[in-house]
Amino acid sequence: MTKIRAAITGVQGYVPDYILTNKELETMVDTNDEWIVSRTGVKERRILKGEGKGSSDLGAGAIKGLLAKLNIAAEDVDLIICATATPDMIFPSTACIIADKVGAKNAFAYDLMAACSGFLYALSTASKFIETGTYKKVIVVGADKMSSIVDYTDRATCIIFGDGAGAVMLEPAEDGLGIQDAILRSDGSGREFLHMKAGGSAKPSTHETVDNKEHFIFQDGQPVFKAAVKNMANVSEEIMKKNNLSAEDVAWLVPHQANKRIIDATARRMGVGDEKVMLNIEKYGNTTNGTIPICLWEWENQLNKGDNIILAAFGGGFTWGSIYLKWAYDSNK
Ligand code: UT7
Repeated sequence: MTKIRAAITGVQGYVPDYILTNKELETMVDTNDEWIVSRTGVKERRILKGEGKGSSDLGAGAIKGLLAKLNIAAEDVDLIICATATPDMIFPSTACIIADKVGAKNAFAYDLMAACSGFLYALSTASKFIETGTYKKVIVVGADKMSSIVDYTDRATCIIFGDGAGAVMLEPAEDGLGIQDAILRSDGSGREFLHMKAGGSAKPSTHETVDNKEHFIFQDGQPVFKAAVKNMANVSEEIMKKNNLSAEDVAWLVPHQANKRIIDATARRMGVGDEKVMLNIEKYGNTTNGTIPICLWEWENQLNKGDNIILAAFGGGFTWGSIYLKWAYDSNK
């Protein structure tokens, strides 16, 4: 019997219109364009403006575009998994809100949280529903309104993050294409370096926590940077070895866009040249769960059926991982 694999059959991104440039950040905190570009690679990022707008609006924007592009009715979607670190509310899930906004009445929907590795965790989880023959149309959407948890007086974090979303459709493939392998890891002892101090069950929000800015991202940049370089490079090398892939075999590396220096280190370890690395951090910064699908969306026209693609991410938790897939279609070029 032919093995059923989960193949990405379409991808769509959604970024809000407002562009927050390094120049504008220079008026908000003590920083400069040269420092930001040389230390991170970010030149500008998108910000979702508007009262009451949340990650679900970004995710719904991506999914509406995806369904229109694939000519698939929202009612035909079986499942929506939303990877997000910035849910609209603690509950209900953002996935439920997105499903409602796009009219996916027959889908069940849930969120999955793994910080910046969430899209990979969700893609791997979703692939099992396809591989087992349980469902035929599963959407994975990574959506984050990072501006909702960024302290715009903290120059070490406000320069990195941006808002955005990307969604992929997963469908069964019996031609050997699609998701081939995944290696996912976590180490909760890394939580002290990257977390939000208050607003969860361990420390619910109070006037005091808000006064202390504990509802914003806390990041100790250096240890996160070191762990990201080490683990993203290790796991990407590991998945190549496990699947007997040489650097020549790899058509594209699609890395989480947290810092250009982390991406460069990963590509170097894999032996993959810059021309094979998807990089758009300069335009969007770190959109957390949005980075990888937004890259796939922007590069879609350059992807060919059968391309070996390595996705790699590292994020809060710590969480990290790598997915190896064979691209399943030729785009309209
Ligand atoms: O996606 C989730 C996972 N997150 C990550 O992967 C992020 C990992 N960490 C990083 O990308 C980097 O650590 C940062 C970009 C956050 C910071 O870069 P860094 O090279 O590690 O800088 P640093 O924190 O060691 O700071 C170096 C200096 C400090 O000044 P002193 O103490 O040497 O005088 C900072 O105060 O740079 C200063 N600095 C800045 N200067 C100008 C920090 N932020 C800024 C800034 N503009 N925006």
